[in-house]
Amino acid sequence: MEIEVRDERPEDIPAIHALNKQAFDQEQEANIVDALRKNGAAKLSLVATLHGQVVGHVMYSPITIAGKHEGAALGPMSVLPQYQSKGIGSRLVREGNERLKQAGCLYIIVLGHAGYYPRFGFKPASQFGVTCEWGVPDNVFMLLVLDEARMRGVSGKSWYRSEFSSVV
Ligand SMILES: CC(C)(COP(=O)(O)OP(=O)(O)OC[C@H]1O[C@@H](n2cnc3c(N)ncnc32)[C@H](O)[C@@H]1OP(=O)(O)O)[C@@H](O)C(=O)NCCC(=O)NCCS
Repeated sequence: MEIEVRDERPEDIPAIHALNKQAFDQEQEANIVDALRKNGAAKLSLVATLHGQVVGHVMYSPITIAGKHEGAALGPMSVLPQYQSKGIGSRLVREGNERLKQAGCLYIIVLGHAGYYPRFGFKPASQFGVTCEWGVPDNVFMLLVLDEARMRGVSGKSWYRSEFSSVV
């Protein structure tokens, strides 16, 4: 499969919305993506395309630990159901994480499948003394350190963008 991973373009926006809606089987994640973008909080938004069709998407937005240490929150992320388990999600995560590292980002947080994200280096955030603003199981709230030196001593409660709590 000739998958291309690239930055989203304005003309991709309807396809990204439709993709999130289909992959999550509800519209909330698609609406969160739209709200983050509209509010200038899409730190990074990548699409995976196959023959020009958007088949995968990931968005990263700002997140803070203890109200002051900014990093990136991975998600929502989605791949069209018929293209899942073909490595497209992995391509998106690897490219996105690498780009953020190159940009000097401190860390990435993800709230997601415990069996999926550890393969990219994510560990339970509790191991770093980082907690979630919502009551979620320990193993689904994960953190990947990108800059070890600057992460030393960073711990506390993390705060997502308010769109994650307010958009339905
Ligand atoms: C999760 C998702 C983005 C992964 O994309 P993908 O292209 O299918 O992922 P890859 O091909 O890179 O990797 C496939 C792996 O993801 C795992 N995976 C997919 N959905 C999963 C789920 N709900 N729970 C746990 N693991 C899951 C598969 O089991 C597979 O694992 P394996 O390699 O050990 O067999 C995609 O399955 C999806 O869009 N799911 C619906 C929306 C969603 O749940 N988004 C993420 C929220 S955290």
